[in-house]
Amino acid sequence: MKKDTFYITTPIYYPSGNWHIGTCYTTVICDAIARFNRLVGKDVFFLTGTDEHGQKMETKAQSVGVSPKEFIDPIVEDLKTIWTMLDVSYDKFIRTTDEYHVKAVQKIFRKLYEQGDIYKSSYEGWYCTDCESFWTETQLKDGKCPDCGRTVHIEKEESYFFRLSAYADRILELYRNNPGFLEPSSRVNEMVNNFIKPGLQDLCVSRKSVKWGIPVDFDPEQTVYVWIDALPNYLTALGYMSDDESLFKKYWPANVHMVGKEIVRFHAIIWPAILMALGIEMPERIYGHGWLLIGGDKLSKSKQDNVKTELTDPKDFVERYGSDALRYYLLREIPFGSDGAYSNVAFLTRINNDLANDLGNLVSRTTAMIDKYFGGVLPAAGDSFVYDEDLKTIAGGVFSEVKTALDNFNAPKALTEIFRLIGRANKYIDETMPWVLAKDETKKGALATVMYNLSECIRIAAVNLLPFIPKAAHEILSLYGIESSSVKNLEEESSFGKLKAGVTVIKSRPIFPRIDVQKECKDIEELMTSRHEEKIKEQKKEIKD
Ligand code: MSP
Repeated sequence: MKKDTFYITTPIYYPSGNWHIGTCYTTVICDAIARFNRLVGKDVFFLTGTDEHGQKMETKAQSVGVSPKEFIDPIVEDLKTIWTMLDVSYDKFIRTTDEYHVKAVQKIFRKLYEQGDIYKSSYEGWYCTDCESFWTETQLKDGKCPDCGRTVHIEKEESYFFRLSAYADRILELYRNNPGFLEPSSRVNEMVNNFIKPGLQDLCVSRKSVKWGIPVDFDPEQTVYVWIDALPNYLTALGYMSDDESLFKKYWPANVHMVGKEIVRFHAIIWPAILMALGIEMPERIYGHGWLLIGGDKLSKSKQDNVKTELTDPKDFVERYGSDALRYYLLREIPFGSDGAYSNVAFLTRINNDLANDLGNLVSRTTAMIDKYFGGVLPAAGDSFVYDEDLKTIAGGVFSEVKTALDNFNAPKALTEIFRLIGRANKYIDETMPWVLAKDETKKGALATVMYNLSECIRIAAVNLLPFIPKAAHEILSLYGIESSSVKNLEEESSFGKLKAGVTVIKSRPIFPRIDVQKECKDIEELMTSRHEEKIKEQKKEIKD
């Protein structure tokens, strides 16, 4: 595995327009990992994008009388706006409608066909004539078409198939030889017992009936179906099968494909098989994260109306509490590898406790005391305290704790370690009681030590918080005259004693204002109720019209 580059990907998102805080999770965690790796000197390539083809998009666009591309474009723009609002630092945004992707997928399909990994046969499924759509047994609603409710019948259609069944043994071998390939490790048993052992079926990879897709170039009646279009985005984004494969050569194999647990199967079974067929090296790791549950659900489009009181739109969060509050919540609250449950109260309490109280207070108290006792100039440390060693040990260990946690994608653990330092620094204030020291001129040296040590803890916490809450970390560092963009080597910057005495320290404003949780919950409920009523009114009007 290459050491100096780091290639990380999110899944490409369906442009459903159903953007809620759960959908932001995969991308926000990738962003934190990407930012961290840049800060440890890696040459990072962070990829995200959209997965735009398929019957659903075609039908939706038709229903409003526009082309699929016209229908999708504003939704993609909206997603990009959300990523900008959330400070997502992706290096590339791929759209599966991008011409370079289309061409490369056609070449991949042709290669797999020519070498016998793809063959022509026929697909059998439930067909709705009006919607011109195939459905699987489980997709049907009361035995009828889930889109229009009309009767469906079994129909056969010529399609191409990928010989997935031929790869079962090699996939098992891949898991055996690479224990870290799929994480958390519980997902490996799930793959083996639920899917591979019962027998892998060949995969239908083209459709005659779906027009909104990449045409198979040697059989243009057929379009490439779902996975051979979507999964290779991780290669085509790097220029694979184009005239310029330099990025592919530089960044592949991916260090991690971050995916939600419902699409692990495609990434841990179908994707390795496609790569094996193409003769391409495997990604280093696939990480299947849990879901953020809202109202007990993953919050699919159909369930969104059931959630009447919880705030779910990422734009609302950014406007009301700032991007860092949402980033922090997502990164801190979803336990490593499992699901997390959202509620307004849990969110507001977490933000209040950790960001407003623990972090915000430490920064505002310390900078206010430096302002009051030292005229806003950081003093050099003088006499030491018995509490100093413990404080310095925790501060000195933060970077390696964060690194170990993030190398394993465990953002909650990384944040817990940074907040352990913040908590310890707050306790140090209680122990040393600087307001008492300030009353005694002979204790000026001791007071200086307290201010210096607290400032060092704040600085170390802030540099380590840069990947997680970049805006707040930047603001905190700027109070000490440190430009966040100058932080290039996080390990070095995390050692105690780097802060220069004599620098000007600006008295901090409350970076995260305290929220009155009860009042805020009431306000949110009123907002959501009025929006819900508005929506129902609109729906009724649409039916009337
Ligand atoms: N298009 C496919 C992926 C193809 S990758 C080659 C897809 N798209 S998606 O829009 O449905 O999902 C994108 C990501 O959002 C997935 O990782 C999914 O798990 C994540 N999430 C959607 N809702 C979520 C939650 N409520 N909680 C956490 N993540 C969730 O799947």
